Amino acid sequence: MSRIAYVNGRYLLHKRASVHIEDRGFQFADAVYEVIAVRRGRLIDEGMHLGRLHRSLGELRIAVPMSDAAMRAVMAEVVRRNRVLDGMLYLQVSRGSAPRDFAFPRHVKPSLVMTSRPARGPAPRLIEEGVGVITIDDIRWARPDIKSVSLLPNALGKQRAKEAGAYEAWQVDAAGNVTEGTSSNAWIITGAGEVVTRQADRRILNGVTRLGLLGLLEGEGLRVVERPFSVAEAKAAREAFLTSTTNFVLPVVSIDGTPIGNGHPGSIVRKLRQVYDDYAAAQGEGP
Ligand code: PDD
Repeated sequence: MSRIAYVNGRYLLHKRASVHIEDRGFQFADAVYEVIAVRRGRLIDEGMHLGRLHRSLGELRIAVPMSDAAMRAVMAEVVRRNRVLDGMLYLQVSRGSAPRDFAFPRHVKPSLVMTSRPARGPAPRLIEEGVGVITIDDIRWARPDIKSVSLLPNALGKQRAKEAGAYEAWQVDAAGNVTEGTSSNAWIITGAGEVVTRQADRRILNGVTRLGLLGLLEGEGLRVVERPFSVAEAKAAREAFLTSTTNFVLPVVSIDGTPIGNGHPGSIVRKLRQVYDDYAAAQGEGP
């Protein structure tokens, strides 16, 4: 079966699909994106992703390419045409294509691209045994709360993690506090049993998984604190984990080679993994 991509109003063969060389996404990373999980052919937390897309577009003054209703219809069609049951939908909106000039072009239509592919999430062994992370300086621009495609520091950080035999790199700000992973949010559980994740300020992307889990934690009777935490505090934590659309809740069992707790996924993170999996599965089953 051929893969299909949506590009500016047309469904094209994925291998032939392209945007113009003058596209500002290519020339300036002048574009935003979303990644949405698909379960049983349904998009998980579609509304929250669209809400965040609108925020990113608004912050950068990129025009909204189409109504939410039209966007939802195209997203569903891309998933359907690619016959994705469990996987991901990727969506990019750039300011559009225009002769190269740093300032915004006057009359330009945003480019909209969507692709979808099957994905299984992290290997069961990683969920069972947990993953290691390294820490790196956060060298990103000052607005990583905007989900822009300007991901070079994230790509460099992920590559460093990979070369160090780690799964993810946690980025650290000038004060020594963890901001977030290169493509995930960072969490710890303290000795006192508090679940801690950085507040959604301008220094992190407010993850949809993060938001979904925060909502679920209330029902689990766990105390949650949104505040910065240092690398030292993280290394001394009882448990640690990361969240993202592609990983859901994934235990972190070492930071820079220092084992967290006894070096195995703890009981709280295992529980949270289950709670979030159930939440996503329920959306996949539909109303
Ligand atoms: N990345 N922080 C960063 C820097 C991210 O790139 C992501 C997601 C997250 C988690 O956000 P969410 O829970 O909404 O996925 C946090 C996506 C998955 C990616 O670029 O592939």
